[in-house]
Amino acid sequence: MNAESASTGTPRNPRITLRTLRKWAREGEKFAMLTCYDATTARWLWRGGVRVFLVGDTAAEVILGHDSTLPAEMPFMLQITAAVRRGAPDALVMADMPFGSYQVSEDEAVRNAMAFLTEGLADLVKLEVDATFASLVERLSHAGVPVVAHIGSRPQTVRAEGGYRAAGRSERDAAVLVDTAKLMVQCGAAALLVEAVPGEVGKRIVDAAVHPETGAAVPVIGCGAGPTCHGHVVVLQDVMGLSDWHPPFVVPTGEVGQAVEAAAGKWVEMVRSGEYLKDGGPYQMKA
Ligand code: KIV
Repeated sequence: MNAESASTGTPRNPRITLRTLRKWAREGEKFAMLTCYDATTARWLWRGGVRVFLVGDTAAEVILGHDSTLPAEMPFMLQITAAVRRGAPDALVMADMPFGSYQVSEDEAVRNAMAFLTEGLADLVKLEVDATFASLVERLSHAGVPVVAHIGSRPQTVRAEGGYRAAGRSERDAAVLVDTAKLMVQCGAAALLVEAVPGEVGKRIVDAAVHPETGAAVPVIGCGAGPTCHGHVVVLQDVMGLSDWHPPFVVPTGEVGQAVEAAAGKWVEMVRSGEYLKDGGPYQMKA
C-alpha cells in the first residue's frame, strides 16, 4: 500500500529501507545504485528505477572539480545529502562521511555521523575502514547509526598510498580484506561496500558477510568488485557518459555529455542568430 505525503496528501511509494536492502540480498535480487549529488538528478534517477543513492565524497571531484575526494567538507556533504533526499524522498540514501570527519576522535565521528541522519536526512552513513576502525563501527552501530563499511580500495588514503590502486590482489591482501569484512559485520556494520577488488575476492567477501547470530546475508555493494555482490554502485558521471575518463569496471549506459553539448550548441546558436525572443518575449506591458 502507498503511504501518503504528510504535506500534500498525494500517494507515495513504499519507502526503501535497510530492511528492503536486506530482503534483496537474501532473495538474490540485485540492486543498481548510483552516486548522486543534487535533487534534480535524484528525481530523474528515481524515475529511471534507481532506488539506492550514494551521496559520495566524489562530489569533491565531479561537482567541485578537485583532483581527489579529500576536500569534501561536512557542511557541503550535509547540504547535498539533504538535497538528494528531497529529490528522491522514498529512496535509500547513503551519506559518505568525508575525509577528516571521522578520523580525529570517536566522539566527533559519532556527532558527524548523527548529523547525516538528522540534518542530512540520510538512512545510512558510509566510512572507509580497515580493522583499526572496528571500535568506531561498533560504537556507531550501538548508537543507532547504520554503518556501511567501505573496504578494498579506499580513495581517502590516496596521499598515504601515493596514488590509487586495486586492492586484494595477492592471497595475503585478499585474506586481510575478508577478515576485515568479517570484523566489520561482527561490529554491527549494516552493509559493506567493496571497491576495486578481483571478482574472486568480492565473492569471498559476499560468502563471509553473514550476520553472526542469524546467519542472514549482510548486503555487499560492489564498486568494481565482481559479479557476485548483491548490488553495484558506480559514479553517476561515469555511467552517464559525462566523464572524460572512467575506471575500467564502469560500463557507460548513456551519452549525456554529448546531449548536453548539443543542447548547449543549439542555445548558443539561437541566441547568436537573434532567433531567441524575436517576437518580443512572453511579457507585455500592462495597459
Ligand atoms: O564517493 C564515492 O562516490 C564512492 C564510490 C565510488 C563508492 O565512495
